[in-house]
Amino acid sequence: MVVGASSGIGLAVAQQLSARGDRLVLVARDEARLHEVAASLPGPTVVSAADVVDADAVERAAAAAVKAFGGLDGAVTTAQAMAYGSVEELPLDVLNHLVEVAVGGTANVARAVLPRFRAAGGGHLVVVSSLLAEIAVPSMGGYCAAKWGQLGLVRTLQTEVRRERGLHVSIVLPGAIDTPIYRQAATYAGRQGSAPPPVVAPERVAAACVKRLDKARRADHVGPANLLAVAGFRGLPGVYDRLVGPMVDRAVLRGPRSGADEGNVFTANPDAEQLRGGWTTAGRKRVGGRARWHG
Ligand SMILES: NC(=O)c1ccc[n+]([C@@H]2O[C@H](COP(=O)([O-])OP(=O)(O)OC[C@H]3O[C@@H](n4cnc5c(N)ncnc54)[C@H](OP(=O)(O)O)[C@@H]3O)[C@@H](O)[C@H]2O)c1
Repeated sequence: MVVGASSGIGLAVAQQLSARGDRLVLVARDEARLHEVAASLPGPTVVSAADVVDADAVERAAAAAVKAFGGLDGAVTTAQAMAYGSVEELPLDVLNHLVEVAVGGTANVARAVLPRFRAAGGGHLVVVSSLLAEIAVPSMGGYCAAKWGQLGLVRTLQTEVRRERGLHVSIVLPGAIDTPIYRQAATYAGRQGSAPPPVVAPERVAAACVKRLDKARRADHVGPANLLAVAGFRGLPGVYDRLVGPMVDRAVLRGPRSGADEGNVFTANPDAEQLRGGWTTAGRKRVGGRARWHG
């Protein structure tokens, strides 16, 4: 089961799993887009549209996997939207929804898949978290709160299932990845955001997820600057705090000026969903040469 399979990292996971012969159930909010993705994959695939905050819909998706393929023994969840704006600027319903998707949504996925893994004799859940689960970044407080909460939930889950034979939960924490999430994000910061360098291809994060479906690990960072950023945040908090604001202004909030825009936080925007965001040279070629934003 791949949750968030219609775009970016989740789409890359679905492509890699399907290419190696896995049978898949694809999950995201927009059903038509999921059918489009399913039609592009080589292997047996069913789709089950669900918003992860809707426990019944997530339950139906897991049941669809069992009905179609006789069991469920793996799940990767990537579902999340993003929002720019200071803690004071972000509307509370936007902030709360980011947290609900990350924490409640991930709990819903775990509650739907873990009993089915037990029934199948074992299974692996991989949760795509973020570097921002371990550092704080101004103008991204809603997303940081969501990802810190999700990390706490999933680390707890790992301690809860660790003595059960065959049940595994892994966490993958990407840095900046070349996906559409930055253009899809809500903004209340006066500008749209963009991927700060160094930017990594979604296929690399997907490969890490696929690896963890086969052999679990507590947590994997994917991104050349991740460990340095976490070390700075923890070890030199005064220096980190001084540098991070100007860095966000120069490298993140450099998109076009924008009024308040709720992006894809509450509803899917399938027209903008694709594998790459166009934030790297290779990514720009894949999305048809569209230039990255310049602030
Ligand atoms: N891109 C990065 O730089 C980056 C960095 C660190 C961490 N991450 C994390 O990586 C994960 C994937 O991000 P991405 O960059 O691949 O983003 P993306 O291209 O925007 O894809 C997000 C996927 O999640 C789905 N989704 C969003 N909200 C959902 C909801 N409430 N219920 C069900 N599905 C939902 C989207 O489909 P629908 O909208 O159709 O539902 C889409 O399939 C996220 O958890 C993100 O936080 C990304």
